[in-house]
Amino acid sequence: MSLRFLTAGESHGAALIGIIEGIPSGLALDAATLLAQARRRKLGFGRGNRQNIETDEVRIVAGVRRGFTIGSPVGLILENKDHARWAEIMRVDAPAGDAPAAREVHVPRPGHADRIGGIKYARADLRDVLERASARETAMRVALGTVARALLAELGITLSSRVVRIGSVVDETPWRDVSPDEIDASPVRAQDPVAAAAMVGEIERAKAAGDSLGGVFEVVARGVPVALGSYAQWDRRLEGEVAKTFMALNAIKGVEIGLGFGVAAIPGSQAHDEYEPGGDARTRYRSNRAGGIEGGMSTGQPIVVRAAMKPIATLMQPLDSVDLRTGEAAAAHIERSDTCAVPAAAVIGESLLALALAAAVLEKFGGDSLEELRERVRAWETTVRAR
Ligand SMILES: Cc1cc2nc3c(=O)[nH]c(=O)nc-3n(C[C@H](O)[C@H](O)[C@H](O)COP(=O)(O)O)c2cc1C
Repeated sequence: MSLRFLTAGESHGAALIGIIEGIPSGLALDAATLLAQARRRKLGFGRGNRQNIETDEVRIVAGVRRGFTIGSPVGLILENKDHARWAEIMRVDAPAGDAPAAREVHVPRPGHADRIGGIKYARADLRDVLERASARETAMRVALGTVARALLAELGITLSSRVVRIGSVVDETPWRDVSPDEIDASPVRAQDPVAAAAMVGEIERAKAAGDSLGGVFEVVARGVPVALGSYAQWDRRLEGEVAKTFMALNAIKGVEIGLGFGVAAIPGSQAHDEYEPGGDARTRYRSNRAGGIEGGMSTGQPIVVRAAMKPIATLMQPLDSVDLRTGEAAAAHIERSDTCAVPAAAVIGESLLALALAAAVLEKFGGDSLEELRERVRAWETTVRAR
């Protein structure tokens, strides 16, 4: 395994913890870089109040000395500011007596992990489930992805994202040459300002109705070397790794690469990317319908991933549920919640694609120091030009 990472931490616990192992030595890394991406995750119209409470300042506590990685696992800690108000409820040690903790949850929210998590881990208080199932954990995944992203940046690989649908509103404008800052400046991280305004309206209406919304976002990686991944074995196919990483994000229910589901409806003459003479490797592509992956391998074209996010499961106008203590019908639990988190999910998606691609880069090129890795990538680029 070339790169692995783990997170720990509950939504209102003391902190989120992350470990990423496999990052070569010699990579410049500082807390400011991590903070910049963490702040982007808080973006987007439709988020709840939690984003105002958290500063999301990530502390680097292992694997980095005097500004550079040293080859050992990188360890990160992100303290939850909100924990101060939850310290008694979330305490780790056993309190005296057996009075139930405040803010217990007994009415599962349809569409969340509450019901099945309670059955699986034998938890009567569903807070034991929702604290970890909450997307607060993604703050740490973004931090870990930012480490991967810093590595990719050294190799000339960059990532960007945008929102292309919220509810019924679609922004189908093709990528223009907009800067990432321009996308971040949009209230919903959409490229087209007209669509963005309509998306904001849709979120406002959902919020007023106590409802929630999902959508679709797109993540693009540029500058990816040719031939990451392989067709030679099922678990080495690059799109498999990419799709797994995106499907493993909370609330994601579909992933497309390139034309995705769209290819099912069109003839082959419109589905594939024809070659023509020229370019670096003696052939170049006329289009990028495949989204940068063919036969389980990167083509060197931008890798384009779209993910569909379902509407948030916590509704202020709650769905029907059952109180598990009494077995009676009851309105689902209400926890402070976002109305729509697609803009944030897009930012998280950049980190996810960074993690998947960094693993694929390290798998192909290896290298224990950044210098070694860089040399190998450079040599490969020369090789590719000759083939
Ligand atoms: C960035 C982001 C923010 C989210 N915010 C909330 C939220 O505020 N309330 C909520 O109920 N679900 C939220 N979710 C979705 C839940 O975490 C998710 O639906 C839940 O873990 C159940 O998992 P599943 O939807 O993958 O089945 C969010 C997801 C993401 C990616």
